[in-house]
Amino acid sequence: MQLTLDLKNTKSFLSDAEFAAYQPKLADAAKTLREGTGKGNAFLGWRELPENYDRDEFARIKKAAKKIQGDSKVFVVIGIGGSYLGARAAIEFLKSPQYNLLPKNTPDIFFTGNNLSPDAVREVITLIGERDFSVNVISKSGTTTEPAVVFRIFRELLEKRYGKDGAAKRIYATTDHARGALKTLADAQGYETFVVPDDIGGRYSVLTAVGLLPIAVAGCDINALMAGAHAAMTELAKPGMDNPAWAYAACRNALLEKGKRIEILACYDPAFRFMAEWWKQLYGESEGKDGTGIFPASVDLTADLHSMGQYIQDGARVLMETVVHIGRSSEKLAVPYDEGNLDGLNFLAGKDLYEIGEQAFLGTVLAHVDGGVPNMVIRIPARDEASLGELIYFFEYACGLSGYTLGVNPFDQPGVEAYKKNMFALLGKPGYEDRRAALAARL
Ligand code: PA5
Repeated sequence: MQLTLDLKNTKSFLSDAEFAAYQPKLADAAKTLREGTGKGNAFLGWRELPENYDRDEFARIKKAAKKIQGDSKVFVVIGIGGSYLGARAAIEFLKSPQYNLLPKNTPDIFFTGNNLSPDAVREVITLIGERDFSVNVISKSGTTTEPAVVFRIFRELLEKRYGKDGAAKRIYATTDHARGALKTLADAQGYETFVVPDDIGGRYSVLTAVGLLPIAVAGCDINALMAGAHAAMTELAKPGMDNPAWAYAACRNALLEKGKRIEILACYDPAFRFMAEWWKQLYGESEGKDGTGIFPASVDLTADLHSMGQYIQDGARVLMETVVHIGRSSEKLAVPYDEGNLDGLNFLAGKDLYEIGEQAFLGTVLAHVDGGVPNMVIRIPARDEASLGELIYFFEYACGLSGYTLGVNPFDQPGVEAYKKNMFALLGKPGYEDRRAALAARL
């Protein structure tokens, strides 16, 4: 594993003894995860997934991706939450946030079904235009309202364009192996299906077909992605506070005890933005319960130093910061020399942008530490599949450890149901009549 964790800029906030005091708690959490004896233990399938994923399905994913690349100029991915963020994050990280605008031999990819905005959905339809397209509808439960209603719209579009049979050959459903409305529909219509395993919750599912099919369609190497995750799985199984997952989980819990209630995930590459969105779901949904949990936030640097920088430096001292540092890019872009030097920038002439960014990173870490924000740095070598696989597994495993250390069930999400019940009641879903009346009285 090439990922490393640097905690030296937490030392002025946390003594060695305070950090070491977490060792037994982490040993317990690791044992609980390993033996599957803790809360939410029915959802530990992600833990050994890089070792024992379904090879036949993996081959089918690659075959489907090739077919889609051959018969579609556009690939529409419909899903929300854990059935959305991981795939988008990986594609933006490995390819680009501007993936659709790049010259390429792979389809444009649009993500939808993650909101109820008619403007946003119509826009995707307009962007497809007359181009050939395929759809991947992803929903573990098969009943989530946003993707389900948006899928109806795209299914109708496909059926009008290609006929019922033609549409069925362009629809890929990723869902439970047996249960749910989507599985029923897929079987009835003859869609190719991929499985979200029973024992893997949405936010831990990026390395299943949920993430792998869209990632493969974008032309990324999913073998290397799984190999990276496997390397992390092997390495992070080792006990001890020099295990980066143990150390990260210990440090953030110890800092929480000191009133650092918000963790900002920062990166200096805009390609990381959706990885931070994925991370926010992973940690927010896993730990934010029972009246506790670190609030996960994120910033894009250096952009947000010009918007959020003031607060980070000087606002309420409740923040800790974790920087994901990506190794040197192969792209070289030096600042040109300018004879006139009217902008006074000749002291940077010949310097590579990466080099300038490195000084921004180093200077910002120290400024934030001086401002009272402890800083952790996770280093990965590159924006490539192996590094991403390591990073994904690292965050997942550390999240399980951290949640158990905090004392919550890191694998459930009871709070997500509250809005759904209200929405169903207000929409008049049968069975919600009493709640509808109670809500109406309050509106
Ligand atoms: O992590 C979770 O469980 C949620 O974010 C789900 O992924 C999200 O609600 C979508 O659920 P489903 O895949 O069942 O449509």
